[in-house]
Amino acid sequence: MKYDFSKSAKRAGTNAEKYTLKRKLFGTDEVLPMWVADMDIDTPPFIIEALKKRLEFPNFGYEEIPSSVYAAQIEWMKKHHGITFSEDELLYSHSVVASINTAIEAFSNEGDKVIVQTPVYPPFFKSVTSHNRKVLFNPLVQDENGKYGFDVKDMVSKIDKDTKLLLLCSPHNPVGRVWHREELELIAEVCLKHNIVVFSDEIHSDLVYEPNKHISFAGLSQEVRDITVTALGTGKTFNLAGFAISTVAIPNKELRKKFKKVHENIHFAQGTILGHTAMQSAYMQGAEWLLELKTHLQKNIEMLENICLKHQDKISFIAPEGTYLAWLDCSKMGLSDKELRDFFVSKAKLGLSAGTSFSKEGSGFMRLNFAVSTDIMSQAVRQLDDALREFLC
Ligand SMILES: Cc1ncc(COP(=O)(O)O)c(C=O)c1O
Repeated sequence: MKYDFSKSAKRAGTNAEKYTLKRKLFGTDEVLPMWVADMDIDTPPFIIEALKKRLEFPNFGYEEIPSSVYAAQIEWMKKHHGITFSEDELLYSHSVVASINTAIEAFSNEGDKVIVQTPVYPPFFKSVTSHNRKVLFNPLVQDENGKYGFDVKDMVSKIDKDTKLLLLCSPHNPVGRVWHREELELIAEVCLKHNIVVFSDEIHSDLVYEPNKHISFAGLSQEVRDITVTALGTGKTFNLAGFAISTVAIPNKELRKKFKKVHENIHFAQGTILGHTAMQSAYMQGAEWLLELKTHLQKNIEMLENICLKHQDKISFIAPEGTYLAWLDCSKMGLSDKELRDFFVSKAKLGLSAGTSFSKEGSGFMRLNFAVSTDIMSQAVRQLDDALREFLC
C-alpha cells in the first residue's frame, strides 16, 4: 500500500468536535470517541500539498466556486458512478444538512408531509419538524437475517395529497445498506406516480465495498432524473467535513429555480477558497487513495466482526455494504437503552451514537464509526472485548 492507515494524527486537544464534545455527550472524557461521522484518519497528503500551495498566494478575498472544481466533480461522477451532470445543474452548498433544509423550504409548504425512512441520520426528521412540516414515517423493515429494506407497501398506504418530498439516504446511515437498482426503482415508481420530489443524499456514495455498487437515484431514468435533487461531496470520502463544501445536482430547471430562490435568499455565498482547493484536489487525485482507504476500512470491519462473532450471544452486526458506520444490534444484552449507553461509556469506554437518536426503531442498537487508524481500532475492539467478556446476560 502506498498510504499508511495504521496511525493518525492525535486529535485530542485540537478543536475536533468528536473530542471536545466528549464530556457533554458522555459525561466523561474517559471514552474513545467513535460517534460523529468524520475520520480519525489523516486527510490525504496530496490535498494538504494543494492547500499549502494555495496558501503561498497572499490573497484570500471572495472567490466563486471555480469551474475547474465542478469539472473535477463531473468527471469523478462519470467515472465512478456512471452519471453525468452538467455544471449548470450543480450548485454549491456549504453542507448537505443545509441542502436538506433548503429542499424542505423549496418543495413543500407548512403542514405538508415529508417521507423519512427510519432509523436514519437525525437531521432527516429534525429538519422536517423545524420547518413546520410533518414527518411521514416509513420505517425500514428487517428480514429474517436482520438485513434492512424499504417498506414500499407502508409508504404507499400513507401517502396523500399533502406528501411532497422524500428524503432518501443512499447509501444509508446508519444501517449501511447500498440500495439495489430494483429497490430504488420501486421507490421511484411511487414518487413519479404521486408527484413527490426525491432528495437523494448520496454523501456516502464513494464509500461502498465490493461487490456492492452505488446506483445514483437520478441515473435510474430521464423521468426520475427530473424529480431528483442529489446531494454530493467530498466531506465523508476524503475527511474534509471541516471545509464545509458540498454540491447539489438539480437537473430539472423548475426545481432548480425553486431551490435557488431559497438558497440565494439565505445567501449561501460561494464557499471558501481552501474548500474549493481541497475539493478539486480530492476529485482529481483521490482515486488511488480511496481504493486503499476502502481496503483499510474493510480490515476494520473484519476486526469488529470477529469480536461480534466471539460474543454473538450478546451483540451482532451485519457488515455494512457502504459507509464507515457499524450498526450494532445489542438487543440480546437485555438492557434498556439507557443501560446500554451506560455500558458502552462506563464499561467499554467507547463514545458511540445511541441507536435511539436515529428514531425509536434504533432501540437496542448502537452506531460505531470505524473510520479510524488501525491503532485506534485495535484499542476499540480490545475495550469492547474486555467489557463484553465481563458482561453476564
Ligand atoms: C447521510 C448524511 N448526510 C449528511 C451528513 C452531513 O453532511 P454535511 O456535514 O455536509 O451537512 C452526514 C454526516 O454524518 C450524513 O451521514
